[in-house]
Amino acid sequence: MKIIRAKDYANMSRQAANIISAQVILKPDCVLGLATGSSPIGIYEQLIKWYQKGDLDFRYVRTVNLDEYVGLDGGYAQSYAYYMRSHFFDHINIDPANTNIPCGTAPDGEAECRRYDELLHSLGTIDLQLLGIGPNGHIGFNEPDSCFTKGTHKVALSEATIRANRRFFEQEEDVPRFAYTMGMCDIMNAERVVLVASGEAKADAVKAAFFGPITPLVSASILQLHPNFTLVADEAALSKV
Ligand code: F6R
Repeated sequence: MKIIRAKDYANMSRQAANIISAQVILKPDCVLGLATGSSPIGIYEQLIKWYQKGDLDFRYVRTVNLDEYVGLDGGYAQSYAYYMRSHFFDHINIDPANTNIPCGTAPDGEAECRRYDELLHSLGTIDLQLLGIGPNGHIGFNEPDSCFTKGTHKVALSEATIRANRRFFEQEEDVPRFAYTMGMCDIMNAERVVLVASGEAKADAVKAAFFGPITPLVSASILQLHPNFTLVADEAALSKV
């Protein structure tokens, strides 16, 4: 595990964006695994700036997102499909056909999970997987559990996650109770994993995940075993270690 200590959110975003841009430059048709939430917004903003300057070209890049809320249509502002378009894809020259995200409104959940795993296999290895971390140590929506789940699956969101994501919705009742998420095997199979964490609210999760035992009760802890894992965290997120 490599740790990059950033000063603050802006610096964390720039450092992580640097790693992603190097990946895109070195392999223009790379497969990027992408995350949503507050943590990567600064990274996407930085990558957009470099694209606008002419330093980055996403024409051949392919992407797979980690997760989507069950029941939310991609046109809904709180869906992760909408998030990805508005924060990133609409501002770069990526081919929308090369972007992938679980379909929140698929009529058959099991079939959707199978489809997504088949898609991941057909793309081959994810070259770089970007992750955030939930306050309970989740990555993707792999919530605390008694075992590490393998592939894409439907998950009941924990109370902690529903509370944490409440800020994106008008009221708590609107936060979906289920999501589709890539599994731990999908994530661990990525060639390289970069996890970003910012702010004091993440300090306990960072400590438990990367300075404690490996356990499915803290999903991110398994990243300690990944051969090419980089944690990019700011001082506040590292304040308890
Ligand atoms: C989002 C995702 C989640 C978030 C995590 C942290 O696609 O997979 O694991 O990365 O919940 O969210 P933020 O960054 O909003 O604190």
